[in-house]
Amino acid sequence: MTRIAVCPGSFDPVTNGHLDIIKRGAKVFDKMYICVLNNSSKQPLFTVEERIKLLQESTKELHNIEVESFSGLLMDYASQKNANAILRGLRAVSDFEYEMQITSMNRILNEEIETFFMMTNNQYSFLSSSIVKEAAKYHGEISELVPKPVELALKEKFKSPAH
Ligand code: PNS
Repeated sequence: MTRIAVCPGSFDPVTNGHLDIIKRGAKVFDKMYICVLNNSSKQPLFTVEERIKLLQESTKELHNIEVESFSGLLMDYASQKNANAILRGLRAVSDFEYEMQITSMNRILNEEIETFFMMTNNQYSFLSSSIVKEAAKYHGEISELVPKPVELALKEKFKSPAH
């Protein structure tokens, strides 16, 4: 059986925490689709195209992954891709309730596709796209937290005093 997973998220933008999960997931699954989806409770900084490009640039060395976007339900995307798994990262207990809610909803939508969780490396347990954007907005040092293309893109976004 070919093990196909979807690793979904807003990825606004991708951080080293996401990359840790993506790299480890790519070792477990035969094929993994990284899917940029819309989270209706978030207002994105980067366009979907920018987020895809940053993910592609940051995962060049991984040969069994593809980066795409989808504007509907995650489970519809996953079944279109014949995926048997969803992969999500868990950082701390605070992630649990939200993840349990969307996983339960996703199971109602499609019970054939299992969701798997991977604990993020401790080093990144505090890290989120939001906290990185906050630091970058005020020109804080973020080079240890995000891949190089993201660091440059954030510097570009926040270079004008308009933000
Ligand atoms: O990185 P995030 O913001 O935690 O990712 C959340 C995301 C984008 C995976 C989630 O909001 C999602 O799956 N959105 C697509 C719509 C959907 O299928 N929602 C869940 C069931 S209602």
